[in-house]
Amino acid sequence: MRFKLHLILLLAMLIFIQRSQAQFNIGADEEDEEEEEEEEEEESSVEDETYEEKLQRKNIKEDATLSVDKLIAKYGYESEMHHVTTEDGYILTLHRLKQEGAQPFLLQHGLVDSSAGFVVMGPNISLAYLLADHSYDVWLGNARGNRYSRNHTSLDPDERKFWDFSWHEIGMYDLPAMIDYILENTGYKKLQYIGHSQGCTSFFVMCSMKPEYNDKVLSMHALAPAVYAKETEDHPYIRAISLYFNSLVGSSITEMFNGEFRFLCRMTEETERLCIEAVFGIVGRNWNEFNRKMFPVVLGHYPAGVAAKQVKHFIQIIKTGRFAPYSYSSNRNMQLYREHLPPRYNLSMVTVPTYVYYSSNDLLCHPHDVESMCNDLGNMMEKYLVPLKEFNHMDFLWAIDVRQLLYQPILQAIEGRKEGHEKNSVQQRRRRRSRLGLHDNL
Ligand SMILES: *[C@@H]1O[C@H](CO)[C@@H](O)[C@H](O)[C@H]1NC(C)=O
Ligand SMILES: *[C@@H]1O[C@H](CO)[C@@H](O)[C@H](O)[C@H]1NC(C)=O
Ligand SMILES: *[C@@H]1O[C@H](CO)[C@@H](O)[C@H](O)[C@H]1NC(C)=O
Repeated sequence: MRFKLHLILLLAMLIFIQRSQAQFNIGADEEDEEEEEEEEEEESSVEDETYEEKLQRKNIKEDATLSVDKLIAKYGYESEMHHVTTEDGYILTLHRLKQEGAQPFLLQHGLVDSSAGFVVMGPNISLAYLLADHSYDVWLGNARGNRYSRNHTSLDPDERKFWDFSWHEIGMYDLPAMIDYILENTGYKKLQYIGHSQGCTSFFVMCSMKPEYNDKVLSMHALAPAVYAKETEDHPYIRAISLYFNSLVGSSITEMFNGEFRFLCRMTEETERLCIEAVFGIVGRNWNEFNRKMFPVVLGHYPAGVAAKQVKHFIQIIKTGRFAPYSYSSNRNMQLYREHLPPRYNLSMVTVPTYVYYSSNDLLCHPHDVESMCNDLGNMMEKYLVPLKEFNHMDFLWAIDVRQLLYQPILQAIEGRKEGHEKNSVQQRRRRRSRLGLHDNL
């Protein structure tokens, strides 16, 4: 019964996004007014709050609207923005928490996410800050099509052709371009990589299709890797979305999830709760680890926009149980791949030392699927099942206790692989921490 309600809500959201895209652009002024009204209302309802609470509320409001580069700067880290052009013309934005001379790390987000996923919960929780505090040079990627990477040397996001890509192209072009750029910029021969969800999918595409990139990555840390997805087939939302694609409206769309849920979700307590339940319906339910206070910030940064083809491609691997390139008509497949079905990606070609982190309540990456992926990877190091039964697909970024439950073990694995350049790292860390007024709670 609960699922039915979610399905209706999800479909309503899909339709809402279609309709609202144009309106939000035109109605920008109106939006501002609404926001001001909202502000006044909030001011009056919280008179007896403490100074800390007031500060926190102010930060939440601000963090919901700041772009990632400004967020990073706001919290006292050296923030840089870089642009990289891929072989096929997409212009991508990289955000960076700069530590000159330190070993570079590339963090790559999942579907409907952006670089924001690694900073959205703030310096006390989010992974990008933790790595920066441990003296790594942290780079945050943005895949083509998300709100930071909607540019191209010759195509316009208003053209259909701009959106003709899936995570295959992100792996074939975006990741190689970003990796080459970072290595060139820093002078390092290898970087370390952390991917969440689709950030893993496209990484494995890259390493199996362009094996020379295996030599440019010191270690890969795969969080909730959406790769094999046999067990996801029963997911009710997946069925709903695939029905949607078969419908008249759905079949023609090129771009998805680039809407604004902020107003819809924050109208009342109840709509907010429904929105959170809708998210749980997709990723797994876990109220205990969900930081409801931060939900406005999440809504400010999600969803960040994807090509419909990315979603369709995921649905293909869920339905066919084959981790393979995009499948077209049999004829087209013959032309492109010389076979009726696209040949599978060969995971044994992935020779980067790989660490895998997964959880038992992840509705998008079932533990069985993750484990069979681990068996097929070319250089599997360790797998780590998060020791909390309810941990879901987004808890890898959002959970209240994500540092203890997940990032601690990641750091241990990483520190074990750190090569050279360890000079001053403890000193640097102390200096940064005292500048930020943080206590060493690690
Ligand atoms: C940071 O997190 C720790 C535990 O995770 C908590 O005790 C502390 O209050 C937090 N600090 C801030 C400023 O939120
Ligand atoms: C897109 O890239 C072009 C070429 O680099 C640049 O001139 C333009 O300002 C960019 N547009 C946006 C919206 O960033
Ligand atoms: C996958 O790659 C390995 C080499 O890493 C090779 O031995 C094997 O034949 C390949 N499998 C397929 C199906 O191409």
